[in-house]
Order: sequence, then C-alpha cells, then structure tokens
Amino acid sequence: MLPEPFQIYVCPTCRGDLSFDGNADALAGTLTCATGHTFPVTGGLPRFVLDEGYSGSFGFQWQRHAKDQVDSASGAKISRDRVFRGTGWPEDMTGQTILEAGCGSGRFTEVLLSTGAQVFSFDYSEAADVTYRNFADRDAHVCQASIYDMPYPLASFDRVFCYGVIQHTPDVKASFMRLVAMVKPGGYLAVDVYDSRKWLFNARYRVRWFTKHMDKERLHRLCQQATVAYMKVMPPMHPWNQLVVPLKDYRGVLPGLTLEQQISWSILDTFDMLSPAFDLPQSKRTMRRWCVEAGLTDIWVERGGNGVEVRARKPASTV
Ligand SMILES: C[S@@+](CC[C@H](N)C(=O)[O-])C[C@H]1O[C@@H](n2cnc3c(N)ncnc32)[C@H](O)[C@@H]1O
Repeated sequence: MLPEPFQIYVCPTCRGDLSFDGNADALAGTLTCATGHTFPVTGGLPRFVLDEGYSGSFGFQWQRHAKDQVDSASGAKISRDRVFRGTGWPEDMTGQTILEAGCGSGRFTEVLLSTGAQVFSFDYSEAADVTYRNFADRDAHVCQASIYDMPYPLASFDRVFCYGVIQHTPDVKASFMRLVAMVKPGGYLAVDVYDSRKWLFNARYRVRWFTKHMDKERLHRLCQQATVAYMKVMPPMHPWNQLVVPLKDYRGVLPGLTLEQQISWSILDTFDMLSPAFDLPQSKRTMRRWCVEAGLTDIWVERGGNGVEVRARKPASTV
C-alpha cells in the first residue's frame, strides 16, 4: 500500500504502478515498480532522479535564498500577482489538480496552494527539498524529478503550470511538449520562457560561458560583492544598462520590498542569470508555433512577466 502522499506517482521509466517499502510514518524507504525500477524516498521526498544533473546551481541558489521570493515571507504580493496576471486562472480552483514543474523554492507553489487546488510540484534539483520544507504543513505533494521523466500518469492534470524553467533545460521544445502531455483533455497549460528578443544583447551572454563553470560558492560571493558595490556607487540601473552590466538591480522596481530585500533579490537573480548550465530564450512566434504543433486551442502568447507568457488549452477530445 502506498502512503497517501505517494499515490499519484507512477514509474517514470515504464509508467507502471509503484509499491512502497519502508517507514510510512517517516516517509522514508523505497518505491519500486513491477519491472524492478527503484527510487529512494529520503527526507520525505521521492527521488526520481539519480542526482541534480545539470541543475546543481539551482539547488545551491534555492537553499541559499529559500524564502526570499515567497510572498508570505517577503510580505509582498509579487508571486501572487504574477501567477494570476500571467495565467488568467481563477483564484479559486478548489477540487482541481495542478502540476507545477520546476518549483524552485516554491514561490508559486504557495500561490497555487492558496487556490484550494491539489498541487503536485517537482524540481530536478535539491530545490525540491526547499519547497517541501517551506510548505510541509500545507499539503503540497513534492518530489525530485525531471521534466523529461515525470513520475505521473500522462494527461492526468486539470492544469499544468511552469514558470521560469524551460529556458533552463537543454531541449526547450521537448520540455514544452512533455508539459503538454501531462494536461488532461480540456485542461489548461500556463508556461513562460525568457524572451529571445529582449535578452539577445544582454551582457549576461558575454560572461556566462565562463561564470556557468565557476565554483558555485565562489560565484555567489562574487555576485554578492559586485551587486552590493554597484548599488553603493551607482543610481538604480536603467534597463538599457543591462546591455553592458551583467548584474541585476531591483532598486525601485519591485513594489513592497524593503531595500534590504531588494538587495537580496538582486544578488539572487544575478547568480540566477550567471550560473545555470542552460539559458535558451525563445520568441513569441516560436512559442505560438509549438502550441499549434501540439494541437492546443485558446492559444494566448504575450510578452510579460519574465519574458513570453503562454496560456493554452488541450481540446476536450484529445487523449
Ligand atoms: C529559475 S528557477 C525557477 C524556479 C521557480 N519556478 C520560480 O520561478 O521561482 C528554474 C528551476 O527549474 C528547475 N529545472 C531545471 N531543469 C529542470 C528539469 N529538467 N526538470 C525539472 N526542473 C528543472 C531548476 O532546478 C530550478 O529550480
């Protein structure tokens, strides 16, 4: 018998049912399918990947900045506003199921949980542990898994949400299509991606070839020193300055944050843009084309939030 929090999961390799062996109260043990694929459950989380793979920089950053962007900790409504403005979804989704891919520290998990929906979140990196810890008391179902091998039955969610993630995967189109496959017939998809037009000449791309290979601790220290030094001597950064300065500066940009919080977000997002293994922005036109290729309807693709935002629906008759 599977412990309740694990009943949704199937084997990501063969899609077979899983059985649990271990301590159900402590949520520690092993999940095994009939074919013999096994997955450890440690720290309360099923691990459907061997390790963090290319996503280790994110595991590091979300452990370091575990609550910075979580609304209930920051006192702002930045994550909440981004979810509802970007997705167009209702604030009450009681009784529905939502799959959240690449949850990071859970800034959007918190918002999705507030809708009354059942939320299933995963992340490739150890950020999954951060989300689990942040919302252990709120019935979030969290696991460590990859978008390329998701441990859920296909076409089983009313809604699939993925913000801030697919540009950081090695094959952005494949990631998008995997998300589509998880949406129920008649269900909704909300995805965002960096905008290739906006980011094309950004200074980050002139230094990332080097910084993404740096030791994470060292790079984080450097981001901290450079960001703080910049803020001490320079006025708040005009967006055009990002063409020459590979730093984030959120002074005056994010409503409701104290100066100290703005500095911390700036350090976090400077690290976030210089450290990931992949940073592959896409155009509005590409995102629309992929929606059409995937057979989606009600397609809405606009610039907003962190780049290009996509809303679409899977036709009710498609399996
Ligand atoms: C920039 S963070 C965004 C996190 C969160 N969605 C947010 O907006 O705060 C990107 C996240 O995608 C995750 N990620 C990257 N590749 C992934 C994959 N193949 N499967 C699942 N998550 C992945 C990273 O570990 C990281 O936590």
